[in-house]
Amino acid sequence: MASVRISIARLKPGMFVVDAGISWLEDPHLYQNEGLIISEAEIKSIKRQGFAEVCYDPTRSQIQALPEDKAAPRTLLSDEIYVARGAFSSAYGHVRSFMQSAACGNVEVAAVEPCLNSIVKSVARNRNALLLLANLKSLDDYMYRHSVNVAIFAVAFGQYLGLEDEELRRIGIAALFHDYGKALLPPNILNAPRKLDASEMQIMRTHVECGYEKLRSSGKFSHEVLSAILQHHERHDGSGYPYQLAGDEIGLYGRIISICDVYDALASKRVYKDAIHPKHALGTLFKMSENAWAPGFAEHFIKMVGIFPIGTAVLLSNGQKGIVCHSEPLSPSLPSVLLVRDCEHGVRPLRLFDLSRQKTVNVNRSLSKTETAYWDIPTLLDSANEEEMA
Ligand SMILES: [Fe+2]
Repeated sequence: MASVRISIARLKPGMFVVDAGISWLEDPHLYQNEGLIISEAEIKSIKRQGFAEVCYDPTRSQIQALPEDKAAPRTLLSDEIYVARGAFSSAYGHVRSFMQSAACGNVEVAAVEPCLNSIVKSVARNRNALLLLANLKSLDDYMYRHSVNVAIFAVAFGQYLGLEDEELRRIGIAALFHDYGKALLPPNILNAPRKLDASEMQIMRTHVECGYEKLRSSGKFSHEVLSAILQHHERHDGSGYPYQLAGDEIGLYGRIISICDVYDALASKRVYKDAIHPKHALGTLFKMSENAWAPGFAEHFIKMVGIFPIGTAVLLSNGQKGIVCHSEPLSPSLPSVLLVRDCEHGVRPLRLFDLSRQKTVNVNRSLSKTETAYWDIPTLLDSANEEEMA
C-alpha cells in the first residue's frame, strides 16, 4: 500500500514513518526518517525541528491517522510557527540576494521557487503563523522584509479568495519581485532618510518599469507575473502609475499585490515616518478603498487580516490582556486571544480565550508599544499550552 502524507498534527505514536524519496531541497519541511514513532516526546522533537508533514505507511503502523477536519487549520499555530520562521528567513535571504545582485547579476527565479512552495503550504496548513511573522515587523532591512511580507499577505489573501496553489505560487513570485526595480535606482534616492521631493519621487516611480524591463528581458517570468509587477501601483480610479490603468484593466494579481503593498508600508516604520498601528492601517485602507480598489475588495482583505490582526496585543473589557492568535472572517471583532499575566514578576501566557464563543467580553483597545515593551510575543506564543493554541 502506498504511503499516506499527513500534517504533523495528525502524527501519533504507533505510526510507521516512511522515506518518500523526496529531496530536502524540494520539500524541506517533510520529515522522512523512517521508523516507528514510539512517543509524544519524539513527535514534539520532530515539530521543534521545523517539520510540518510526514508520510506514513498504514500497513506497518499500529494505528491509523484520524480523518482531517477540512474546516479547521491543519496544524496548531504553536507548531506551524517553527516552519513559518524557516520559510520566512529563507524568503528573506533570497530577496536580499537577488536585490543585491540586481544591477550586475542574472535573475535567479528557479532558486526562489522552493521557498514559495514552503510559503504556500504553510499558509494552507495555518495561515496565522506567517501572518503573525509579517505583522511583527522585525527590525531587518525594510526593503527586503517588505517584499517578504507582501508575498505572505498576497498568498494568504489569494488563498482566502479561493485561488489554486499554482496561482498562489505565481502571486507569491510576483510579490517577492514587485519592487525589484528599486534595487536599480540611485542609492541616494533609495536610501534618503527623509520624504522625497517631487523630482525625486518621479525617479522613485520609475522602479516599476525598470524592474519590469529587467525581469522581462531575463525570459524567466510568465506574462501574468510580469503584469502583476507592472500593475502594483495602479489604482481602480485610474489615479495610479505608470499607465493610469483603471477598473478591469488591472488584473487580479496586480490588485492583490497593490493592497498588500499599501497595508505593509503603512504598518511599517520607516526612517521618515513611524509605523501606524495595524488597526489604523486597516482604517486607512478602508478610507482609500473607494478610489484605490474595486468595490468590496478592501473589505475582503480586512476580513482576512482581522480587525485586530494576528500578533496584536490587546486589552479586553474585563481588564485582562492578551495577544490575538486567530480571527474568524465572520466575526473579525471577536478574535481568539492568548491571555497573558503581566505583572512585576514578568509576562507569561495563561490560556486561550475565544471571544466569539461568549457574549460578555470584547476587545477594549489595542495596547501600545510602550505598554508591551517587555512582551516577547513569539516566545509567549512558544511557551503557551500547545493543546489550546489551535
Ligand atoms: Fe513599488
